[in-house]
Amino acid sequence: MRKIAVAKGDGIGPEIMDAVLKIFYEAKVPLEYVLVDMGKWVFDKGFNNGMTPEAKQTIETLGILFKGPMETPKGKGVKSINVTARKTWNTYANTRTFQTLHGVDTVFSKAGIPVDITVVRENIEDTYGGIEHMLTYDVALSRRFITRPGSLQVIKYAFEMAKKKNARRITCAHKANIMKITDGLFLDVFYEVAKDYPELKSDDVIVDDLCMKLVTRPDNFDVIVLTNLQGDIVSDLCAGLVGGLGFAPSANIGDYICIFEAVHGTAPDIAGKNIANPTALLLSGIGMLRHLGFMETAVTIENALLYTLEQGVHTGDFGDKSKPAVNTTEFAKIIIQNFGRQPQQGAKSFLSDKPVTETHFQLEKNSMMESAESSTEKIIGVDFFIESNEQPINIANKCLRHAGVKFKLINISNRGTQVWPTGSVYTNLVNQYNVRFESIDNIPLNQQDVLGLYVSLSGDFKICSSELLLLLGDKRAYSLAQGQ
Ligand code: NAI
Repeated sequence: MRKIAVAKGDGIGPEIMDAVLKIFYEAKVPLEYVLVDMGKWVFDKGFNNGMTPEAKQTIETLGILFKGPMETPKGKGVKSINVTARKTWNTYANTRTFQTLHGVDTVFSKAGIPVDITVVRENIEDTYGGIEHMLTYDVALSRRFITRPGSLQVIKYAFEMAKKKNARRITCAHKANIMKITDGLFLDVFYEVAKDYPELKSDDVIVDDLCMKLVTRPDNFDVIVLTNLQGDIVSDLCAGLVGGLGFAPSANIGDYICIFEAVHGTAPDIAGKNIANPTALLLSGIGMLRHLGFMETAVTIENALLYTLEQGVHTGDFGDKSKPAVNTTEFAKIIIQNFGRQPQQGAKSFLSDKPVTETHFQLEKNSMMESAESSTEKIIGVDFFIESNEQPINIANKCLRHAGVKFKLINISNRGTQVWPTGSVYTNLVNQYNVRFESIDNIPLNQQDVLGLYVSLSGDFKICSSELLLLLGDKRAYSLAQGQ
């Protein structure tokens, strides 16, 4: 028997988890469940990360967590337990599969357009680092980290998954036309990895264009890989294509620990009434069974679920309102009665599943820390983010006095738009400018040079933040201001 950790969660969590575990029990899934303490009531007991040390230990030992939705207490300054779990255990790939379910009516099912899309979302980086500062009373800054090793991990996983899924196409969605360095890096890594998978059709699309195309012809897409925030938004859009959050399963995949959960939350409005729809959690559980290699039981349960939906059986949140809804327990019971039945459309077959190979790497040293580029790095300037409500020309005159013999003032920008040496009177200004200095003739600088300028400039301005301007090899590693 394989042991896994189970956290039932808050709100409707225990009701839908009990329904799913009952289905697993009747299908003779060879799993043993170790219940762990996580969720709101654990926060309330004073554990600031929402889980007990024993729960953490159990999950780290067993490597698999099957969880119900959890509530993060509001206004207590604690971080979301769902985000903490994903980050603590480096579950770098969030995979959500959205497919047409017969019996769940949508505009696409009515039009005969089938949907079968898997979204792989990077799960650790991007603005989800939550690194934010107020630079002045009026100006907030969020740092967005996209790293080469972080992108590589998730993109490699997406290609492997696409191969196992026999995908027709794998698409990288991005905004590299605007975020040339961060999304540009993600896109470069995508095409680097694509070279190892010549049998897969790989391409890319700008994320706003993707959204338009998804809501017109979703059947043109198969596997889509994205950075964290864009992936979050596109996932919910795709949930809408197949009937809403009640049908959206999710897996958070890491090398050591994987978390399987539904996309939806605790649904406090219907909690305790035994009317919640357990389908999303059941689909997440089916994904977990496949991940663990229990293909046959996964197929039996999935076919029974699809057959049940096809028969028009539904909980109160979907389906034909002219037919009475069943409650959570009845829904699970009917699925169990339908074991061995095949749906007319979209039946799953064990033979079409490719076996899942476990990816447990032994890391002698942390390969994510190695960078081929670091030996060719040169500092050639610095950006200072200063607080000021003066005219750009006055700021420039002050800055020029501090530039000394090593630096020249290149430009001044406000919210990314250049305002000196040229600019437009129509640009709206906030009280926070970026003044950019570069070394004269691009002569490499050292950190002392930059600190000297920092100290000198601080005589005139409050410096809120600074960034080194680097050359990596011969490539500029920073963006130009608009208009520069
Ligand atoms: P929600 O997903 O809990 O509810 C949104 C709406 O969908 C509600 O009307 C609810 O009744 C309905 N709904 C959701 N799941 C359903 C199901 N299985 N069957 C029938 N109806 C269902 O989102 P909301 O209200 O924004 O969040 C409530 C709580 O859940 C918050 O504390 C939030 O932090 C937490 N949450 C937890 C997540 C997780 O554990 N992964 C994910 C999202 C939210």
